[in-house]
Parts: sequence; C-alpha cells; structure tokens
Amino acid sequence: MNDKALATDLNVDQQALESKVKDMYQQVAEEPYAEYHFAMGRLLAEHLGYSPQDLDRIPSAAIDSFAGVGNPLELADIQPGDVVLDMGSGSGMDSFIAALKTGPEGRVLGVDMTKAQRGKAERLAREADFHWVSFHEGYIEDVPFDDNSVDVVISNGVINLSAEKQRVFAEAARVLRPGGKLSVSDIVTEQDLPEGVKRDATLWAACIGGAIRQDDYQRAIERVGLSVSSGWPNSQYAFLTEAAQNASERYGVKSISLLAIKSQH
Ligand SMILES: C[S@@+](CC[C@H](N)C(=O)[O-])C[C@H]1O[C@@H](n2cnc3c(N)ncnc32)[C@H](O)[C@@H]1O
Repeated sequence: MNDKALATDLNVDQQALESKVKDMYQQVAEEPYAEYHFAMGRLLAEHLGYSPQDLDRIPSAAIDSFAGVGNPLELADIQPGDVVLDMGSGSGMDSFIAALKTGPEGRVLGVDMTKAQRGKAERLAREADFHWVSFHEGYIEDVPFDDNSVDVVISNGVINLSAEKQRVFAEAARVLRPGGKLSVSDIVTEQDLPEGVKRDATLWAACIGGAIRQDDYQRAIERVGLSVSSGWPNSQYAFLTEAAQNASERYGVKSISLLAIKSQH
C-alpha cells in the first residue's frame, strides 16, 4: 500500500485546496454553461450511459450541473425501499435518479460541502416534490449518519478530491449495513502523479491532482472491510483542456467504476 498517497501529508495547503474546490463547484452550480476542464450536463450523462428516460423524469437543472465521471448507478442495482447515500451529491442528478429506483418508500441522502450545490439540489427536490430525497451539509470524511443505516453508498467524481481518502472509505463502510454496497465512479491514475501536478490547485479541483493509483485506491477500499467485486474503465470519459489532457495522457489519469460489498458478518 502506498500510504503516502492516502494521507493528508501531500505538501499541499489543505485549506487553500478546499476553498478552490468549493469555488469551482459553486460555479458549476450557478454557471453550468461556463468553460471547465471537464465535460458537464446532459450530453455527458448520455455519453456515460444514463438512460434518457430516467433523465427525462428528473429536474433538468440538476442535469445541467452534472459533473460526474461515470455512472455509479449502473453497478449499484438500487432496489425499491433502499436507503441510499450520495457522497458529494453536487446539484443532485445521481440522487434524483437513485430516488426513481428507491421510490418514495426508500430514502436518498445527499451530502456535499458546497453550499451553492446543496442549495440548488434542495430547491429542485422541493419544486419537483422528491420528498424522499434530502441534501445535507457535511464532509464525506465525516458523514452525519448512523452506523449500519444505509443500503447503498454511491459517489461520482468526488473521492479523488479528498486528501483523506482512507477516511472517506472508512465512513462508507461505517454507515453501510452488513451486505450493503459501495458503488463509485472516480478518477484514478496508472502512475504516481508528480508533486507539481498534485500541488496545482486548479488541476486538483478539476479531478486530476488528487487522483491516486488505481491499485492503491482498491486496496484502500478493501482495507475498511469491503470487497471489490466488479468494475470497469469509463473510457468514454475525457478531459477537455490541454493541461488536463496532457496530465491525463502522461500519467494514465482515467475514470473507473467499482462496486464493493460490505461483508455480512
Ligand atoms: C465533480 S463534483 C461531482 C458532483 C456530483 N457527484 C455529480 O456527479 O455531478 C464534486 C462534488 O463533490 C463535492 N465535494 C468535494 N470534496 C468534498 C468533501 N470532502 N466533502 C463533501 N463534499 C465534497 C464538491 O462540493 C462537488 O459538489
């Protein structure tokens, strides 16, 4: 295990990073049609395999601000009545699609640290009467929910942004009930990123600088008692700007989806 990749000791200013990430995703909530290092919106969602029929049944403004990197719902197999936690729920697209699967007999809980994203998702849930979906202020390193209280944890394009990935996976394992599922789409790398890329706050906020090697990522999941059972690369996902594409090509920065199960015992 490359522990260094998972620890907070990354020679980056954590507070500066957090405020950079919050600024970027506030803009994603408020100005979805601006230019970013990454693709967004309905075209991206359809490209990543989301069903147009599902997309037609949720608030379109949530889709406009979609900034995921894969489709974690494909592996999650959410059932009616399930309780789902969306870690880093953004403007809520995945939470709303999860809500179509749980139905009103289930619950969907979104957690995000960026006020503008949460506020937008809350307003959309209220306006479209998704009363079984709620959005909560918080950090994915310390989620505000009880142990063994969730059937499925989903997360899309978020854990790479955390400087404490091991804590995030420990939180997912803590809230999952025995037999529960973690389904993530995220950015990982084939090679360790050089310090210069990790220290570039813009590349970090663009889901590149904080990415760790896929083998380290999977080991971090297994370390908290979850077993990775399946997954695939999301080769349709591509970065947009030259700086992002260069880093991606040089270090094998790529999107993957993974499913991991918490043991029954
Ligand atoms: C790339 S966006 C993805 C949002 C959403 N999952 C989607 O697919 O559109 C990343 C989101 O994660 C949130 N985020 C990043 N780090 C976080 C953390 N440590 N705790 C809570 N939220 C975080 C950001 O505020 C942002 O809304």
